[in-house]
Amino acid sequence: MSDFLSHIKSVAREFETHLDAALPKPQGATARVAEAMRYSALGGGKRLRPFFVVETARLFGHEDEGVWLAASALECVHVYSLIHDDLPCMDDDDMRRGKATVHRAFDEATAVLAGDGLLTLAFELLTREAVHADANVRLNLIAKLAMASGHAGMIGGQMIDLTMGLGGGTREVSEAVITQLQDLKTGALIHYAVMAGAMLGGANAHEKAHLSAYARHIGLIFQITDDLLDVTGSADIMGKAAGKDEQRGKATFVSILGIDGARRKAQTLANEAHGHLDGFGQKADALRSAIDFVLKRDN
Ligand code: IPE
Ligand code: IPE
Ligand code: MG
Ligand code: MG
Ligand code: MG
Repeated sequence: MSDFLSHIKSVAREFETHLDAALPKPQGATARVAEAMRYSALGGGKRLRPFFVVETARLFGHEDEGVWLAASALECVHVYSLIHDDLPCMDDDDMRRGKATVHRAFDEATAVLAGDGLLTLAFELLTREAVHADANVRLNLIAKLAMASGHAGMIGGQMIDLTMGLGGGTREVSEAVITQLQDLKTGALIHYAVMAGAMLGGANAHEKAHLSAYARHIGLIFQITDDLLDVTGSADIMGKAAGKDEQRGKATFVSILGIDGARRKAQTLANEAHGHLDGFGQKADALRSAIDFVLKRDN
């Protein structure tokens, strides 16, 4: 295993213990929703968003309980987005992270509520004093997460994604529209991951500008590889179904640019992403290696 792969896995393992502690314990009459929240959030996933929170904060020598809490909050929003994305009224998927989707393992209503429970828990976590001593930093983290998750972020992207699926004719969609769709659907939460680390670490405006550009590139590369894997990847390795985008008439980078065009686009973005880390020296090596990981991942 490469050094980077073992590093990201060790961050994921450490993250798991923090997320476990942040999630509700099933008890009493509400046990079922807590069980569904834990079922979906624990024991799977690459934990890429938590990785970006933690590694960006480390760039500034910052690491404490607050970083893990912010990473947990973001992962809660991500997992909620996956639960709802998989529902029959959305992508209608049966497998996620190598196991049955929440609506399959429990039922649809429980899946809706587990998603809602994770989304709201995320914001409660960010109010905790341990996140950061300065309440203004906490408020900023909360506001930015709300924007990245909502109609101007992930939810907006999901809406465009579904509307295009309904429209069928993906050929008419331009690369600019696809870029906007992916920037919102996937990019907004990945951008937040990096910026939350930067906020907690106390980055200055100049550093934030470069990290923001880096994060935008990572988000796009990430979704291009997600779209490529839907065509070329293995369901066993990914732990989710393949071949769904074409089946559902989704407009993706691959449907617009073709497989080779999408690969070239991702490589160009990866080269540019490196440029935005130039000023950070060796400290940014983990964020540098992450570019290649996101580009070449097979799940
Ligand atoms: C999948 O995200 C959904 C998209 C935003 C494309 P990930 O590929 O990060 O999923 P996990 O967290 O590793 O399961
Ligand atoms: C989902 O995109 C992105 C969010 C959950 C916001 P996809 O529908 O392409 O993700 P997968 O392929 O099901 O993981
Ligand atoms: Mg979807
Ligand atoms: Mg999906
Ligand atoms: Mg996909």
